[in-house]
This record gives sequence, C-alpha cells and structure tokens, in this order.
Amino acid sequence: MPSPSRPIVHSDPFDLSVDGRAVKTPIAIASMAGTVDAAYVAERAGHVGMAFIGGYSVDPPTIAASRQMAEGGRCEFLPGDPVAELTRQADLLSALPVVGGVNLRASSPEALVAIAQAVGDRVIYEIDAHCRQAPMTAAGAGEYLLHHTDRLAEMVRALASEGVTVSVKVRAGMAENDPRLARQLWEAGATLFHIDLMDGGYAKIRQIRNASPIMIIANNSMQSFDRVMEMFSHGADLVSLARRSDPETLAGIDAAITRYAKEFGWYNAPKQLCRGGDVRALTFCCLPVKDCPLLPTLQKIGLSREEYVKLKRESVQGTPIQDGAYTCFGSLAWCCKVSSPCLLRDATLDQMKISKKQYMEEKRRLSRAIMARVFPPRDNDDSG
Ligand SMILES: Cc1cc2nc3c(=O)[nH]c(=O)nc-3n(C[C@H](O)[C@H](O)[C@H](O)COP(=O)(O)O)c2cc1C
Ligand code: SF4
Ligand code: SF4
Repeated sequence: MPSPSRPIVHSDPFDLSVDGRAVKTPIAIASMAGTVDAAYVAERAGHVGMAFIGGYSVDPPTIAASRQMAEGGRCEFLPGDPVAELTRQADLLSALPVVGGVNLRASSPEALVAIAQAVGDRVIYEIDAHCRQAPMTAAGAGEYLLHHTDRLAEMVRALASEGVTVSVKVRAGMAENDPRLARQLWEAGATLFHIDLMDGGYAKIRQIRNASPIMIIANNSMQSFDRVMEMFSHGADLVSLARRSDPETLAGIDAAITRYAKEFGWYNAPKQLCRGGDVRALTFCCLPVKDCPLLPTLQKIGLSREEYVKLKRESVQGTPIQDGAYTCFGSLAWCCKVSSPCLLRDATLDQMKISKKQYMEEKRRLSRAIMARVFPPRDNDDSG
C-alpha cells in the first residue's frame, strides 16, 4: 500500500499492458490482407505499441476462399504452407518492440488451435470476424461468425484454453448486439475486442465499456488527435489504423497522445458521468446525495449506495487521495476530474504537494478497483 506522502508516479506515460506484455503506446496497426506483414510492421515499429499482421487463411475452406478472392482482384497472402509462414512471421514480429498479433481466418476452432500449437504464445491470436467477402463468409469465417456468435465464442474458448492471448476483430452493427457480444467473448476468454466502428462514433465504445472490462481497440479513421481522444475518453484502451498506417500519420498521432499523457497522466480518463462518461467515471463521482445520473448507474451495475461508498472509501485507504478535508465531501476520493475547474480541490492538491497528473493517476487506480468490483474476474482468469 503506498504511503499518502509518496504518490505513485509511472515513468511509462501510458502504463498499459496486454496480458502482462507492456504496450509502449496505445496505437496499433490493423491488418490488411496481402499488405501488413512483419516487414510492414518493422518500418513503423517506433510509433506503435501493437500490430496485427495478416489476415492469413489457415484451413482448406478459408484458403480456397482467399484464392477465389485473389482471382477476383483482391490482395491476399497465399503462402504454400501457412504454419511455416506464420512461424517465420512470428519470429520476425517477436524481434520488434511491439506486441504482435496474427489476424486469422479459420472455419473451425480446431484449425485455430493447430496454428496456436505450432506457433506458440509469443503472438496474440486475432480471429477475423470482420471480412465480409462472399467466399470467406461462405467458408464459415469472417463476418459469418458475427451471425453465429456461439461458434465465435467456441473459437475463442478453444484458443484461450491453449494459453494464448485472444483478440476478436469485428465490424460494428453486424452482430445483433455488440456490447452483449463483447461480454460473451470476454466470458469465453478473449482479452481484446477490436472493433471497426464503420461510420459510427464513440457511443458504441461507451456501450461496450459499460458491458464488460474487455480491452477495446477502436478502429476506423483514427487519424486525428480529436477522434482518438474521443475514443479514449469513452472507454477505448487503444486505437488502430489500417489504411492510414503510414509512418508519418502514426508518428503524428503517437507524438500528440504521448504529449497529452505526459502532461495530464491517465490518457484514457473518462468524462464525468453526468457529461456522458462510462462506468469508469464513478472514480470522479460524489457521495450519493443528489438526484443525478449516479443513482441510476449504481442501480444498473447492481451496487447499492452503501456498497459504492464503502468501495470507494476502502479503495483509497492509505493512498494520497484519501485526504482532502476541505473538499466538498472531505476526501479527494469524491472529487471531480481535473478538467472540471475547482479552486477547493486544486488548493488541496497544492497543499498536499500532489500534481494534477499524480491526482489523475490515483483516480485511475481507483477506477481499476471499481471496475474489478463491477466485473469480477472470469472463472478461469489467471492473468491477474
Ligand atoms: C486492403 C484491406 C485489407 C484488409 N484486410 C483485413 C483482414 O485481412 N482482416 C481484418 O480483420 N481486417 C482487414 N481489413 C480491415 C482493416 O483492418 C480496418 O478494419 C479497416 O480498414 C478500417 O480501418 P482504417 O480506417 O484504419 O483503414 C482490411 C482493410 C483493407 C483496406
Ligand atoms: S455524482 Fe457528481 S459527478 Fe457523478 S453524476 Fe452525479 S453530479 Fe455528476
Ligand atoms: S471540491 Fe471541487 S472537485 Fe471536489 S467534489 Fe467539490 S467541486 Fe468537485
């Protein structure tokens, strides 16, 4: 337990990891079949924290589909031996300073398991439930899986039981209910939900964040700082780029969010709940004394007022934000986000010699404790 006089400060501006692997910046390269391989990633590795190569088709039905798509003019990877090629690519990826993943098209859980057994746990396994090309969906892969979500969950379970980290790439609005799907996949063992938002905005990200603690990668047109920050402030953990994953664009986004994180801390802090924030925003909420969005939110997540108060009080015990006698509710635990101007809070922070950045880091720690209570670990979770 940290001492109140010694706030926690992270030297890494993002303090982000995926199943224990450090991710240096919350930007990923999203797959583009026939284009994104380890060599493509190597040219951009300085500006991204994760990269998904592929997609690779790995069993006879999906390989036949890829062939048909290539004949129709699409760019596809068509290695003679997918296991040998994926092993070679995984070796190359492992040597880069990024957390690497392979985007795979498969028509059965067994085909995915065979790849995982051959290639091992040094890469993340991303199931491509995104491809909407007719030959691929006819093969029982790609978007087919968004209409057969039990099959998709079966694939996730099969991979997770091999001890590898699983991501699922989806297109928003195709499954019956995206937040429910994210929850189902998290329960099945997926760590990452990689969602192409298409024309949609941050509202979808907030719905998913409110339904499960799965790590969210927001995708589609993430090339401006404002769009990226909108995703982060509504619950995305990372953003990804495919078409604009040129080194200049990646470097620009990386520089802007690194600057932000170094100045303000907690790069994906939520908005206040009453300003449209997601469930993590409970970290900024007051004591439950007024008629505001707090009470309906508590009701939705099944926490009584008393449990909420106890949870926040206990979670800040022994930390710098347990104090704050001159703030509205006698403790910084109930105080607002730094972007909400407040002389009382700021004077308290000054007096306690806590910077605003450190305050936000403490609020992040509190939000993690709240999330762990709202979404208790899965039965088979040993990732900590
Ligand atoms: C040429 C091309 C190939 C793609 N291939 C794949 C693929 O194999 N697997 C996959 O999950 N997504 C694939 N995608 C989708 C992208 O990863 C991404 O979701 C989409 O392009 C939207 O993001 P963007 O705006 O950053 O490009 C492909 C996209 C393009 C343009
Ligand atoms: S408790 Fe405070 S911060 Fe939370 S929703 Fe209500 S007024 Fe907003
Ligand atoms: S003291 Fe300021 S920051 Fe803290 S709860 Fe009151 S208004 Fe919000």
